[in-house]
Amino acid sequence: MQQILLIAVAILSSLQVILTQEPRSPPSKIAIVGAGIGGTSAAYFLRQKFGKDVRIDIFEKGVVGGRLSTVEVDGNHYEAGGSIIHPLNLHMKAFVKDLGLTALSLPKNQLGVYNGDEFVFQESECFLMNIINKVWKYGMNFLRLSMWVEDILEKFMRIYQYQRFDYSFSSMESMFHALGGKDFSSKLNTTLSEAMQNYGFSQKFIDDIVTPTMRINYGQGVEVNSFVGAVSMSCLDPGQWAVEGGNKLVCSRLIDASEAQLIQGSVTSVQENVHITKSGDTVRLYEVRYQTSNGAGQDFYDIIIIATPLNKAISKIEFQGFNPPIETFSKPYIQVVTTVVHGKINASFFGCSKPCHFGVSEIFTTDNPKHFVSSISRISPVTFVPESHLSNSSGYEIWRMFSPELLTDDQLGLLFESYEGVGAKKWLAYPQYTNAPEKLPPIMLHHGIYYVNSIEWAASAMEICAVSAKNVALLSYHRWYDMDTHVDQDDLAERLKSEL
Ligand SMILES: Cc1cc2nc3c(=O)[nH]c(=O)nc-3n(C[C@H](O)[C@H](O)[C@H](O)COP(=O)(O)OP(=O)(O)OC[C@H]3O[C@@H](n4cnc5c(N)ncnc54)[C@H](O)[C@@H]3O)c2cc1C
Ligand SMILES: *[C@@H]1O[C@H](CO)[C@@H](O)[C@H](O)[C@H]1NC(C)=O
Ligand SMILES: *[C@@H]1O[C@H](CO)[C@@H](O)[C@H](O)[C@H]1NC(C)=O
Ligand SMILES: *[C@@H]1O[C@H](CO)[C@@H](O)[C@H](O)[C@H]1NC(C)=O
Repeated sequence: MQQILLIAVAILSSLQVILTQEPRSPPSKIAIVGAGIGGTSAAYFLRQKFGKDVRIDIFEKGVVGGRLSTVEVDGNHYEAGGSIIHPLNLHMKAFVKDLGLTALSLPKNQLGVYNGDEFVFQESECFLMNIINKVWKYGMNFLRLSMWVEDILEKFMRIYQYQRFDYSFSSMESMFHALGGKDFSSKLNTTLSEAMQNYGFSQKFIDDIVTPTMRINYGQGVEVNSFVGAVSMSCLDPGQWAVEGGNKLVCSRLIDASEAQLIQGSVTSVQENVHITKSGDTVRLYEVRYQTSNGAGQDFYDIIIIATPLNKAISKIEFQGFNPPIETFSKPYIQVVTTVVHGKINASFFGCSKPCHFGVSEIFTTDNPKHFVSSISRISPVTFVPESHLSNSSGYEIWRMFSPELLTDDQLGLLFESYEGVGAKKWLAYPQYTNAPEKLPPIMLHHGIYYVNSIEWAASAMEICAVSAKNVALLSYHRWYDMDTHVDQDDLAERLKSEL
C-alpha cells in the first residue's frame, strides 16, 4: 500500500514538472487574411489547437465564402464558384456534419463531348449501354483511369491520418514526399499528358475525355501537373455532392463555430515589429494595416495566416521591411466566367437537327479554338425546388456555362433558342499551371507567417484548401511550442501503420 502511494506521489510530482515546464504562453492574437474556405477552416482548426483564450481575427475585403458563391437567376440561387465535392473529401464531410448543415447529392449528368461539329462521346440513360459504348470506343481506358485516379487519391488520403495524429509539414515538397515518397512528389513535376502517356492511355482518350474534363475544371489543358490532373479527373467518380443552401454556408458556419471575429476590411500591409519588454524579453509581433469602409485600421498579431492567393491582381498585400524580402507570387490566375441561364437550349447548335432527342445534360468541349464555352451543364438550385418549377413543357431549364470571357448576347443567342434570366460572375479562378517542373510557393513566409494557398499550385479545390488550412494550424502550433517531433516527419506511413 505504502509503495503504491509512493509511486502515486512520484507520478504526480513528475506530472507537475511536465505541467510547470510549459515554456511559453499561448499567442494572444492571430490574424487570418481571407474568409474563403481556406481562411475559415484555418480559424476552426486554430481554435481547436490553441484553445479558447486566443483572439482570432479574420479579415475579409469581399464576401465571406470567397470563391464559394452563388448567383440568383429567376428567383433561385445557383453555385457560381466551387460547386462539386468528392465523396472522399473528408474535411468537407466533417464540416457539414459538425456544423449542422446538409449534404445534397448531385444527380449523375449524361455527358456529351462536343468537338465543334459533333459529339465525339455521348452517354445514354442506359447503364449497360454506357459500359459497352466506353469499351467499344476506348478499350480499357476508362477502367485504367479509375485505377490511376484511385491510386493517387489513396496516397493523398494518408494526409487525414497524419493530421489526426497531429503531424504537419513546412513545405509542399515535404508533405508530398511523406504521402508517397519520391514517386508521389514527382507527380508535381510531371505533366498530366506525360504521366498519362507513360501509364498507357491512348491519345484519343486523352483528347476526347481527359482534355475536356481539364477544360471544365481548370480552364486549361493537359500540360498541368499530374496531381491536379488526378484531382480533376476524380470529378467523374460517382457520389459527388454539394451543401444544401450553398457551399459558402460552410464558411460562415466555420467562423461562428471558431468564435473568430470577422473584420470587413482589406489588409494592405504586414510589417514585423520587434520590441524589448521591461523584463528584457524580445517580443516579435506583426503589425497589420487594413482599410475598412470607416477608414484605416491597424493592430498587432503573434501569428499571421495568409488565406488568399498572393497575387497582386487578387490581394495587394505589401510585406514591408522584411529581410530577406517576402516574395509575392505574381504568377497568373486564369480568368473564368460562370454564366447561369434559364432558357431552352438550342439543340441544333450542337448538331442535333430537328426533330432530335437531345439526351445530354452536360456538355464538355474538346480543345478547339472555335469554342467560346468550355462546358455547359444542366444544374439545380442550391435549395430543393420541384423539377416542375424549373423546366416546363417548352423546354426551359437551368444551364451553367464556364467560359474564358463574358458571353455576348449573340453567343447566348446561339446556345439558346430563347432564354429569360441570366446571371454571370467573373473570377480569377485558379492558377495557370505552367509546364511542370514547377517550384511551389513556400508555406512559411516568415517565422510566424503562414501561406495556406501555396497548396493551390499543387491543386486548387475546396478540400485541398481545407487540408492546407489544417496543416498550417498544426504547423503554427508546433512551431509556437517548439515541437519539432511533429513537423516534416518522413516515415509516417510506416510508423502510423501500427496505430491503425
Ligand atoms: C468557377 C470555379 C469553379 C470551381 N469549382 C470547384 C469545384 O467544383 N470543386 C472544388 O472543390 N473546387 C472548385 N473550385 C476551386 C475552389 O473554389 C477554390 O479552390 C477554393 O474555394 C479556394 O478557397 P480559398 O479560401 O483558398 O480562397 P478564396 O475563396 O479565394 O478566399 C480568399 C478570400 O480572401 C479575400 N481577400 C483577398 N485579399 C484580401 C485582403 N488583402 N484583405 C482581406 N481579404 C482579402 C478575398 O476576398 C476572398 O474572399 C472552383 C473555383 C472556381 C472559381
Ligand atoms: C441555333 O443554332 C443554329 C446552328 O448553329 C443557328 O443557326 C441558330 O441561329 C441558333 N439559334 C436559334 C435560335 O435557333
Ligand atoms: C416556360 O417558361 C418560359 C420562361 O419562364 C416562358 O416564357 C414560357 O412561356 C413557359 N412555357 C410554358 C408552356 O409554360
Ligand atoms: C520540381 O523541380 C523543381 C526544379 O527542378 C525543384 O526545384 C522542385 O523541388 C521539384 N519539386 C518536387 C516536388 O520534386
